[in-house]
Amino acid sequence: MALERIAGKTANELDERYGSANFVKRSARKIFPDHWSFMLGEIALYSFIILLLTGVFLTLWFKPSSGIVVYDGSYVPLKGLEMSEAYASTLEISFDVRGGLLIRQIHHWAALIFVAAMVVHMARVFFTGAFRKPREANWIIGVILLTLSFIEGLAGYSLPDDLLSGTGLRITQGVLLSLPVIGTYATYFLFGGQFPGEDIIPRLFTVHVLLIPGIFLALITVHLMLVWYQKHTQYPLPGRTEKNAVGYPFFPVYTAKAGGFFFITFGVTTLLSAFVAINQVWLFGPYNPGEISAGSQPDWYMGFLEGALRLFPNWETHLFGFTIPWNVIGPALIIPGLMFTPLALYPFIERWVTGDNEEHHVLDRPRNAPTRTGLGVLAISTWLILLGVGANDVLAYTFNLSINAITWTFRIGIFVIPPLAYVVTKRICLGLQRRDRELVLHGRETGRIVRLPHGEMIEVHEPISDAKKWELTQHHVQAPHEVGPTTDANGVPRRRLLASKIRARVSRFYFEDRVEPPTPAEVHELESSGHH
Ligand code: HEM
Repeated sequence: MALERIAGKTANELDERYGSANFVKRSARKIFPDHWSFMLGEIALYSFIILLLTGVFLTLWFKPSSGIVVYDGSYVPLKGLEMSEAYASTLEISFDVRGGLLIRQIHHWAALIFVAAMVVHMARVFFTGAFRKPREANWIIGVILLTLSFIEGLAGYSLPDDLLSGTGLRITQGVLLSLPVIGTYATYFLFGGQFPGEDIIPRLFTVHVLLIPGIFLALITVHLMLVWYQKHTQYPLPGRTEKNAVGYPFFPVYTAKAGGFFFITFGVTTLLSAFVAINQVWLFGPYNPGEISAGSQPDWYMGFLEGALRLFPNWETHLFGFTIPWNVIGPALIIPGLMFTPLALYPFIERWVTGDNEEHHVLDRPRNAPTRTGLGVLAISTWLILLGVGANDVLAYTFNLSINAITWTFRIGIFVIPPLAYVVTKRICLGLQRRDRELVLHGRETGRIVRLPHGEMIEVHEPISDAKKWELTQHHVQAPHEVGPTTDANGVPRRRLLASKIRARVSRFYFEDRVEPPTPAEVHELESSGHH
């Protein structure tokens, strides 16, 4: 066939020049383990590509300028109004550029999906322990990508210079101002003088279309190269070990799946954008620092910061003529710091607690790491509470409740619910592990009750398959780390005793409650006694 001949000839020409045949062959045959949850990272990737494509389209018409013009476009209610060129050009894209509104909507929806996919992907990586050695670097890169995406989103939705975006920028200015000592300098530096000034829009534009996307491209490339080089993890199933990778070849299986899935993601995002309006800036009007509309809400991924601001008590300290505004530093800097530092360091914290220096390519089932799973749910519940209180005004309005009562409920809730969520999750995990143990030892309940000749009623249990037994017993359960002798052989107190004691304590917190999987001897004993 002509096509095959051309492909073969091209491959030959390339190989003669770059010696590429070997590389292509090896890459095409590379095996990737498969599971639906590995698709989450892919959704983040495809949304990023959609963002790049639609973003390029928008830059052709968007004018990153605060210069004042009188609106003369086709949206009648705003005709004759003074506004920035940025806002006017956003209206132009929405109403006067063919397909402009759809592309704007796709760009905004893709941004929301991008961050959501990233968060869910991160949760998958966390709950299955995919961040363990050797993938710590990819975890850190992930945390940087997530943090950058917040800044990228904020810069993006500030560009249209409408009333909502200006309100977000005003909060950003307040946060910068709250920084002790450097606050005023930092604000003047970012805004080029008084708020809002004329510099911020062009600066945000550069950050949004050049700086952060460039960093994203570089980091995502490294992220994917690491997945390729270190190989993908796999779920525990018979035949999968720490030393192999069981799955399908990259070519043709993954190239076909990934290509198809990209178009599905693009299609769904486009449908959503065609039917569900988002960020209708023409309804908000141009930005004016003296105005704000009721129910102003940031994009969802910034909601937790908004919530932290609304949740925090109105604390301020006055010292030597200076004001330290804890009511802004706390929610805007300390709370995110307390959330993201442990998040970034988690692989190293867990490694220190477990003392586990082995490589892990087989994933954990979340129930088999009850403390980690509990901590993950604790973190998610804290974050959801912040997200919820970020909408306290909307909740108050919708349910006709007092906004103060709502805020106080969340204030108490943030101390009560996350620890409770931790305990309940851990108990559920331990319960599930006990059920797995039962399944291996006594088989599945069939629901069939029989009466024995001597009158006893029993439920018949059916043994589970050997493959299932393997899956339920393959994991290793860690015992808490012991402090050991406090002195060495000569009676001299051991070095680094305190560190060892702390580690033993944390390790007890992690592993004191545990359910051991049945040992082969236990299974064998039950089998030979014929008990099911
Ligand atoms: C721009 C955003 C991101 C993109 C495009 C992306 C893309 C991907 C893709 C396609 C994979 C392979 C498939 C999969 O396991 O889902 C992957 C794996 C991985 N990602 Fe991400 N990711 C992003 C953000 C993150 C974040 C926020 C984290 C965590 C903080 C993270 C940590 C990891 C780790 C540790 C792996 C290896 C997982 C394994 O082998 O099981 N990534 N990423």
